[in-house]
Amino acid sequence: MTSAVTPVLDQPQVIEVQPNGDMDGATRIYKKHLGDMSGIYVDEAAYQAQVAEKGAEELIYYVHEHKYQDGPGSLIVGTSTLLPGKVGDEYAVTRGHIHAQENRAELYHCLSGHGLMLLETRSGESFVAELTPGKAVNVPGHWIHRSVNVGDEPFVTLFCYASDAGQNYDIIAHANGMKTIIVDDGEGGWKAAPNPRHGGYAAGDQ
Ligand code: NI
Repeated sequence: MTSAVTPVLDQPQVIEVQPNGDMDGATRIYKKHLGDMSGIYVDEAAYQAQVAEKGAEELIYYVHEHKYQDGPGSLIVGTSTLLPGKVGDEYAVTRGHIHAQENRAELYHCLSGHGLMLLETRSGESFVAELTPGKAVNVPGHWIHRSVNVGDEPFVTLFCYASDAGQNYDIIAHANGMKTIIVDDGEGGWKAAPNPRHGGYAAGDQ
């Protein structure tokens, strides 16, 4: 008589996701405040003035994560909610990152608001994906990515990526920001502009 070990499989999960980014069963929620955004925006004087005016605890964005399995092949699903605003001429952004395992891809699907996914590679390619509800962007591995809110209401995306991807935020900090910034075009819209501080990305481990 032989005995077989039956693996205990995780059960499928139904997740209720609201257009405002609220989701049931989040395993982690984190928030970023104005004080966490030091060095992110080009106009440092405007940033400091905003900190003085609104306080370092002013909420900028928050993330709900649903990570219920671990290990290769499993997924993290979540929502990112980036509040509207500007620092100087520059629209509100998330910190941005490349995945620590750089070949890991990610999907972002816009649930509400109007925003951009700003994408760059270490070798200097840029891509701007404009997102409104119903539009999604499939971000391949090896692309640095950041959300930008160019609208008047919260920009909410549903994201999904491999749970072993990880995040490398230093790549942007070490380059003194992304190559491209998104600024007011003077007519209530947005335009992409070169970041005068950007020093280039270091070669990666591709
Ligand atoms: Ni990512």
